Amino acid sequence: MTKTAKAKLFEPIQLGAWNLKTRTAMAPMTRCFADEQTGVVGEDVAEYYRRRAADGIGLIISEGIVISPRGKGNPGVPGLYTQEQIDAWKKVTDAVHREGGTIIAQIWHVGRLSHRELAGNLLPQAPSAIAAEGMIARFRQPYDTPEAMTTEDIQEVIGQFAQAAKNAIAAGFDGVEIHGAHGYLIDQFTYDAANQRTDRYGGDLAGRLTFMKEVLQAVIDAIGADRTVIRFSAFKVDNPTYMWDDPEAALRTFTDMFKEAGAKIIHPSTMDFTQVLADGQNMHQLVRKHWDGAIIGVGNLDPDTAEKALEEGYIDVAAFGRPLISNPDFLHRVAEGEELVVYDPKTHLAELI
Ligand SMILES: Cc1cc2nc3c(=O)[nH]c(=O)nc-3n(C[C@H](O)[C@H](O)[C@H](O)COP(=O)(O)O)c2cc1C
Repeated sequence: MTKTAKAKLFEPIQLGAWNLKTRTAMAPMTRCFADEQTGVVGEDVAEYYRRRAADGIGLIISEGIVISPRGKGNPGVPGLYTQEQIDAWKKVTDAVHREGGTIIAQIWHVGRLSHRELAGNLLPQAPSAIAAEGMIARFRQPYDTPEAMTTEDIQEVIGQFAQAAKNAIAAGFDGVEIHGAHGYLIDQFTYDAANQRTDRYGGDLAGRLTFMKEVLQAVIDAIGADRTVIRFSAFKVDNPTYMWDDPEAALRTFTDMFKEAGAKIIHPSTMDFTQVLADGQNMHQLVRKHWDGAIIGVGNLDPDTAEKALEEGYIDVAAFGRPLISNPDFLHRVAEGEELVVYDPKTHLAELI
């Protein structure tokens, strides 16, 4: 596994507004190392991202950063809505830029996947007042029954996403990724187990995508399509096996909406890149049929599968998650043909290395 054998992975690429050193991305990963009260990150977080930039990762997508106190679903998750939070992120983005890296903020609202004690002592917000089943792993409490959002609440949250995008730029981030995946607020609007609305934010899939579309448009208006990535998925953290009845038709509805909203870069998320969804094709292959903009690929990729997907053109950039937690020098190891440290949540989530 040498650098020459991974020619595509190590190729520079222009992705939207960004000149990336390599066709690699660090997938967004929640680490819960921010101050629990203030949501402010420290020097340890700056050093953690700096190391991945120094390794040559093309695009660092930050851990999910919440856009409001009510958007929070885990203790220790950082925010991007106070001046103190913005100032602290500036140290992180400066450290990454000094290494010649590119970093974008993943902006996040967890919706119903929370508890009032985490969500600023207010009930979590969601499309409908339906509780998710299960427990908040890092909080050892069941999910609260959320409050159904009014049209005014929806407009307010769209405004918070746009403001968080502006705050990200003020904090020195090169752009944002909107977290529209994994069963969090934006994704909750997209499926009927969480969205029973009868207004224009409900109904068929196209209607249920209205909220995602309006958030996307507001963020693009705020900072530009060249600096905006949208992430989406079928699976939900509280419903990991969820799949659309007709995956290709669903993905077509998503990509049609992305085109209407003016998006340029999308990040289809799956935990298994090779999982076949229809006609012998995986999620990224199906998306590529209907989308000629940029695609970030992810889901248990290794350097070989990533190189192949880049060569075949299904994806433009390959994102790695867990291997980048356990290997701060991931690309160095790949280039030198050294073995990768196998990710082990017990040891690797306990500290930032
Ligand atoms: C510890 C951990 C935290 C994660 N946090 C987030 C997150 O904040 N936002 C998000 O969109 N995905 C999150 N993910 C999913 C990853 O971005 C990625 O899609 C997933 O781990 C699959 O990639 P991998 O197989 O290369 O790890 C997280 C994954 C892990 C392991």
